[in-house]
Amino acid sequence: KKTTTKRDFLTLLDYSKEEILNLIEEAFKLEENPIQNVLQGKTLAMIFEKSSTRTRVSFEAGMLQLGGHALNLNTQELQLGRGEPVSDTAKSMSRYVDAIMIRTFGHDKIEELANNASIPVINGLTDMFHPCQALADLKTIYSLKGKFVGVKTTYLGDGNNVAHSLMIGAAKVGMDFTIATPKGYEPNQTVVEKAQEIAKETGATIIVTNDPIAAVTDADIVYTDVWASMGQESEQQERLVAFKEFQVNDELVKYAKDDYSFLHCLPAHREEEVTASIIDGEHSAVFDQAENRLHVQKAILKELLL
Ligand code: CP
Ligand code: NVA
Repeated sequence: KKTTTKRDFLTLLDYSKEEILNLIEEAFKLEENPIQNVLQGKTLAMIFEKSSTRTRVSFEAGMLQLGGHALNLNTQELQLGRGEPVSDTAKSMSRYVDAIMIRTFGHDKIEELANNASIPVINGLTDMFHPCQALADLKTIYSLKGKFVGVKTTYLGDGNNVAHSLMIGAAKVGMDFTIATPKGYEPNQTVVEKAQEIAKETGATIIVTNDPIAAVTDADIVYTDVWASMGQESEQQERLVAFKEFQVNDELVKYAKDDYSFLHCLPAHREEEVTASIIDGEHSAVFDQAENRLHVQKAILKELLL
């Protein structure tokens, strides 16, 4: 049984500005020097209750590059899928592996897992947050713009997991962040208030609006995500209508800075939230962004497991 104190990575709210900047700096170092045998003999259990390409593959490759091992576990194959309590799963797994990464629905479930595990738990996406994505986004933005202060990042679309984490990340590092959503799809009010509170200390501005043109005006970064997230498939049709004005297309990006960059966490739906002309165009950095998932997650793994 492990008795040492552990730290989780559930939301960027739990990490200070300095800690976030240190993780990004370490990710840059890992990009330069990717193969390090520091996690030899260590195992990461990866539990997926939803689909994943980038998170799954980057965590598995990342563990291997650090000398460790990753287990790919789907809920249906675990007793969790047959009703075993999350707490018993957490306690049992803590006896075998060194960390758990989980992608699930409710954020309360990951908190329950973390509270019952004696090993670090990493959030690989919940309905509420996607902190690994936001850390990769911050690294990408820093690579593109060379700074955070004075950079305007605009997110268009649904005010949920990816937007929440990016908003918190922006507030922490002092980057200006505007989110434009259709009415009824605004970000969680508590998250907005927390981000605005943090922003007061870092000098960031956090703006929530329903006006896509005002939001994109003078943006350095234009960011979007799918209109119907995993678990919202039945709302697909009504969302196509509600989000129409928020599509990132050639017309809308005319309002952004001339040297704006386009980001998307992926997977993307071309001609829905973004046109092919933009995501496959010269301003798009979505695959550098995807690559950065690997670098930042290795930094997180080193931070939590060493
Ligand atoms: N962006 C992201 O988390 O991708 P996957 O769903 O493919 O893991
Ligand atoms: N908001 C999306 C992000 C996928 C990485 C979802 O939750 O499905």
